[in-house]
Amino acid sequence: MEDRFGHRISYLRVSITDRCNERCTYCLPHELQEWLPREDILTYEETLRIIRVATELGVSKVRITGGEPLTRRDVLSFFDSLSSISGIRDLGLSTNGTLLARQTASGLTMAERLREAGVQSVNISLDTLNAETYSQITGRDFLPQVLDGIAAAMAAGFERIKLNCVLMRGRSEFIPLVEYAAARNLILRFIELMPVSTSDVLHPESFLPIAEARRALESHYGPLIPEPTFRTNGPSNYFRIPRRDQRIGFIGAMSDLHFCESCNKLRLTCDGKLRPCLGSYLEFDIMKVMRAGATDAELKQFFLDVVERKPEQHDFRNEYQPGRMMVAIGG
Ligand SMILES: C[S@@+](CC[C@H](N)C(=O)[O-])C[C@H]1O[C@@H](n2cnc3c(N)ncnc32)[C@H](O)[C@@H]1O
Ligand code: SF4
Repeated sequence: MEDRFGHRISYLRVSITDRCNERCTYCLPHELQEWLPREDILTYEETLRIIRVATELGVSKVRITGGEPLTRRDVLSFFDSLSSISGIRDLGLSTNGTLLARQTASGLTMAERLREAGVQSVNISLDTLNAETYSQITGRDFLPQVLDGIAAAMAAGFERIKLNCVLMRGRSEFIPLVEYAAARNLILRFIELMPVSTSDVLHPESFLPIAEARRALESHYGPLIPEPTFRTNGPSNYFRIPRRDQRIGFIGAMSDLHFCESCNKLRLTCDGKLRPCLGSYLEFDIMKVMRAGATDAELKQFFLDVVERKPEQHDFRNEYQPGRMMVAIGG
């Protein structure tokens, strides 16, 4: 699938829930929340069908997200079923990490069960190592569980584990996170705050550009070495820390004017909307056509029509007012 601007779509990011056990200020405003009623959420069978159809159109990378995907009931059986979709060559999960170390009925940790089900890569959100800042950002005191979750993920043997840190002025810390990632041989990525929440946090005063994060790192480690050929399927630009084999990613969704050029993604929300771009109001109700009895061929045509309408770039720099919060899109 290719759109009018030459974006080749090979990646589907799938949200399976709008619910979360944390309340990150930039994602899920405190004044919320009414969760979606169950009947408005795609069943696992429906989600699997949409993913299978997408793979038949050339999608080979699938990442499961939310809300917090690991809070959804029977999520492990969903992951087990995903492995039967032969077109998925790269299966990933985005999680806040709080539940990865939890024991499952099989005696394995959640992380081990996910690995067993075929999950190859895990992105874990970690904005800070300071417990107080962690609870200010997430509204919960789950830092110890997250650190246990990261250890559980490492023990489970995933092919790739990345730590994602959303940059916020006055909250972000750099060196402790870089050292934490270095000691564990994990890839750390800094992500610019995007206007995808209605909460007060998204003032210009809280925005911290990646250039500033990079300067903070360089004043400590010396000039970072660009690694333009190092890519992990996502929109990160990677740099190496001098005299180390450690890579740091920067995701400049707001300040990098070329950010959208290499976009290869579509999103499926948990309530069955296909979104051609995170930073656009466009969304198309594939659940409705599926529940009205669409054939696989009709679903494929639906995908192609959505791809046809993928915008050249996101609208975040144009006074964008979020219509849906991140937690309800699937970051
Ligand atoms: C929406 S979360 C869903 C998965 C999981 N609950 C987690 O926290 O990783 C996915 C990613 O989106 C990021 N995110 C949420 N709101 C954001 C915002 N306003 N700007 C930039 N990134 C954001 C989170 O930090 C997280 O890394
Ligand atoms: S970023 Fe993840 S953990 Fe935080 S509120 Fe959003 S969905 Fe939940």
